[in-house]
Amino acid sequence: MTSIARDELRTLFLFEKLTDEQLDWVTEHGEIEKYAEGTPILQEGDPATCFYVLLSGTLRMTRLVHGDELEMTRTDQRGAYCGATQFLMGQRGDQRYSASVHAVTDTEFLSLPAAELGEEFTSWFPMAAHLLEGMFLGRRNTDAVVGQRERLLALGALSAGLTHELNNPAAAAVRATSSLRERVAGMRQKLAMLARNDIDPNLLEQLVDVQEVLVKAVAGAPKLSAIQTSDLEDELSDWMEDHGVADGWDLAALFVPAGITTARLDEVNEAVGEAFLNPALRWLGYAVETESLMGEIEDATTRISTLLSAAKQYSQMGRAPYQWIDVHDGLDSTLIMLSGKLSHIAVIKEYDRSLPSIPAYAGELNQVWTNLVDNAVSAMKGTGTLTIRTSRENDRLMVEICDDGPGVPADLGQRIFEPFFTTKAVGEGTGLGLDISWRIVVNKHRGDLRLRSEPGDTRFQVLLPVTEEEEDQD
Ligand SMILES: Nc1ncnc2c1ncn2[C@@H]1O[C@H](COP(=O)(O)OP(=O)(O)OP(=O)(O)O)[C@@H](O)[C@H]1O
Ligand SMILES: [Mg+2]
Repeated sequence: MTSIARDELRTLFLFEKLTDEQLDWVTEHGEIEKYAEGTPILQEGDPATCFYVLLSGTLRMTRLVHGDELEMTRTDQRGAYCGATQFLMGQRGDQRYSASVHAVTDTEFLSLPAAELGEEFTSWFPMAAHLLEGMFLGRRNTDAVVGQRERLLALGALSAGLTHELNNPAAAAVRATSSLRERVAGMRQKLAMLARNDIDPNLLEQLVDVQEVLVKAVAGAPKLSAIQTSDLEDELSDWMEDHGVADGWDLAALFVPAGITTARLDEVNEAVGEAFLNPALRWLGYAVETESLMGEIEDATTRISTLLSAAKQYSQMGRAPYQWIDVHDGLDSTLIMLSGKLSHIAVIKEYDRSLPSIPAYAGELNQVWTNLVDNAVSAMKGTGTLTIRTSRENDRLMVEICDDGPGVPADLGQRIFEPFFTTKAVGEGTGLGLDISWRIVVNKHRGDLRLRSEPGDTRFQVLLPVTEEEEDQD
């Protein structure tokens, strides 16, 4: 074990103003370590036990990012330090090396035991130790708060969008089911009534046949204008009046949307005869109604399951975070999730479906789309045209989220991408939407986030590499 001389320590900037006793402590606890060219000195992730100061040679500091070794620094500066640099944090710090260090040339280091150095430093400079510790903890807390807010924003958008969107079809299905119960009960009674009147079994059979035909017609009935509807209703109620069916008006209102014409009514009349016409038409009325109620229930429940699968796609539940994706899937599911906010907005999709799949963090990109669409909607104050366009720019795929709102004033420029920058009222915006999007697009995907804005035409352009090599970063 070689120790270092007091005078030599004084030449290192870290130790220049220490007292003799303090320098003696360093001499006593420090050790000179030699490493041959190319050897590892410390390994990222290992318990951080030593603080190293470079005495001679060149070191290289690297970090593993998605399996790739990324060089952070390379230096031959005497006095450069590395290793357990957070020794002041004692047991509270993340006591792991945050990077690996290699000797590029033959090197010499002074190594100090981190735990003891931490204690000693605190007793030498108590105030500095408190301040530094406050800085470490403060930064960690800010990061935690920002990260939490980030997750909450995504979760908030998802659950607010979802509950709003699920509510309508669910309520519609409940309403339709209870009407259906009433109509089915009505049908049973009409059937009993027909039976009491000794209806000829053959007639009943014919009636059932007519019912089948009508019910099938319901689904394919043409969509009518208000005027057409009221004309046809008049025609049907006149017909019923002529045939002695009292209160034919409400039946007409049921039959017209189902595509039933006077010609059909003639067929029914012929099949059952005037005596049974009234209960027969009522019974058919119920059949038409139950059919359309079942159609409503089917639409509502289909909508619910479409929403749930969009939510699943949006949140990327149960899927690998990093995968090859078609960006249009995420854009579509985001638009469905946000459809509650888009009800007064014209959404134009200009998708280039020939674009290739790209390697990406799908769930995080959905957060980007959410933030950008959310901003566009609030810039347009709820009404306007939102255009989502996809295209290719050289070896990058471009997604543009465009709105026709007032635009971003030129003097704000890049500031809008800063964390906590917002022009919204207190409580309305946190100013994190674009900061989060920037980090996801630029840092995580090695892409680019650009703004082109003039009044009435604002475009946020997200560029994403289509190949993996450029993508695979922090
Ligand atoms: N499409 C847009 N048109 C006009 N201004 C915009 C648009 N998008 C963003 N901005 C401006 O950029 C600012 C920052 O946006 P950012 O999304 O980061 O935060 P925010 O929307 O204010 O709050 P939140 O954290 O809720 O998203 C906005 O306050 C707004 O002034
Ligand atoms: Mg925003």
